[in-house]
Order: sequence, then structure tokens, then C-alpha cells
Amino acid sequence: MSACEEVVIEPDTARGVARDPIDEVIASRLSCREFSGSPVARATIEQILRVARFAPSGANIQPWHVYVLAGTAKAEVSAALLHAFETEPSEHVSEYQYYASEFPEPYLGRRQEFGRLFYGSLGIAQSDAAARSRQTAKNFGFFGAPVGLIITIDRRLAMGSWLDLGMFIQNVMLAAVGRGLQSCPQETFAKYHRILRPALSIPAEQMVACGISVGHPRERGRARLMPRADLEAFASFKGFED
Ligand SMILES: Cc1cc2nc3c(=O)[nH]c(=O)nc-3n(C[C@H](O)[C@H](O)[C@H](O)COP(=O)(O)O)c2cc1C
Repeated sequence: MSACEEVVIEPDTARGVARDPIDEVIASRLSCREFSGSPVARATIEQILRVARFAPSGANIQPWHVYVLAGTAKAEVSAALLHAFETEPSEHVSEYQYYASEFPEPYLGRRQEFGRLFYGSLGIAQSDAAARSRQTAKNFGFFGAPVGLIITIDRRLAMGSWLDLGMFIQNVMLAAVGRGLQSCPQETFAKYHRILRPALSIPAEQMVACGISVGHPRERGRARLMPRADLEAFASFKGFED
């Protein structure tokens, strides 16, 4: 049996309307890994970041910083990262640990399902390390997106501020959907901070958290590939019977 169920959002029958427009935006965001070449204006990215900054943060400290890359600047960063990935991959390690060293259930099953669905959709056998590596390499070209964001956070802050950062990142991705764009959040960039830091003049106190590709999806209306566990798997309700 699948570890997760496909996402189903019920119509809001109580209000007699189909689906809240915010639900629509949330549910139609997905990780896009094939962008069309069509450009995205700087003004559009500015609007996205201006609205994303309304993310909440503890004590309103707003711990995010964004480096916005396009054109030659993006191409140069992509080339440097790809070169590092191809020539010295084991020399680049993230400054923070994104994944647990061991996954307990139900996360192990979900991660295995991710691998089956992801590589299956690309026609890549999971045993084919060279093909998997070629797919990983596409991260560094921001999957062909015209805009790449590098997101950093001040390393002197504590774990709570990473909650704030996640909310900001989600806002960026939702604001992109609201403008007909898609995105892909990418922790892969965090591993290459030693190259990103001098290239983007990232100050020593900032840690590279992730990148985000932003652009027009090559294929519009593509169905979601990754399912989600249903409500019963993650929510506990109490007191509603009272
Ligand atoms: C913080 C974060 C980092 C991620 N890093 C990568 C990455 O480096 N490369 C990639 O292709 N996808 C990456 N993903 C995308 C996940 O694989 C994706 O969100 C997940 O499979 C669910 O699919 P969906 O986003 O299409 O709903 C990342 C997602 C998050 C939230």
C-alpha cells in the first residue's frame, strides 16, 4: 500500500463555493523541475519578495536574506557549481544537517516512495547512479528557470528562526503561483556555500539555507506527482464532540 494518499481538497460545501482561491494557490504549487526559457521580469520578483516579507517571524525579526540571480550572474554561478559538482562533489558539505542520518517510520517509507515516484517519472532506474547524478546536476542550472534565488539566514540565530525562514520561503513560492509561475525549493545549493559565498559576497555570518528556482513551467497544468498523507495520519482532534 502507498505510504501516502493523493491530495484531495473537498469543496467548501458549508459556504456553497468550490474552492477557496488561497487553497487553490496552495494546492497547485509543486516542485517544478522543467522550466520554459521565458523570462521573468525583475519587477515580478520584486513583487513576489515584497509580499513574501509579510511572513510572520518570532519577535518580527525577519531573519531572511535573498540573493536574486538572473542572466549572466545566474549562468556564472550555475557553471561554477556544476563544475564543483562534477569535479569535487565530496568536498562540498552543507553547514547544517537537512536530513536525519536515519529515518524512522513513517518517514522512511515516504522517502522510499518519493524515490520510486521521482525516478520512475523520469524513467531512471534507482540503481542507475550515473543517470541519478545527471538529474542532480540539473539543480545547478536551476532546472532551466530564468531566475534563481539563494536564501540565507544569520547563523547566530537559533532553530526557531528557521521556522520563520520556512514560512518566508513558502510565501515566495505561493506568491509565484499567484503570478502563473512555479518554483522548486533546493537544499542542494546549501552544500556549495564555499562557492556561493565569494561569488555572491555573502557575509560570513550568513548561512546558505537553500536555493529556489522560479519561472514559467514548461508544461502547464501538470498533475502533482507527490502525494500527501491524509488528515488522519497527522492531525488529532479533541473536544469537537463536546
Ligand atoms: C527545503 C526543501 C528542499 C528541497 N530540496 C530539493 C532539491 O535540492 N532538489 C529537488 O529537486 N527538490 C528539492 N525539494 C523538493 C521536494 O522533493 C518536494 O517538495 C517534495 O518531493 C514534494 O513535492 P512537491 O513540492 O511537488 O509537492 C526540496 C523541498 C524542500 C521543502
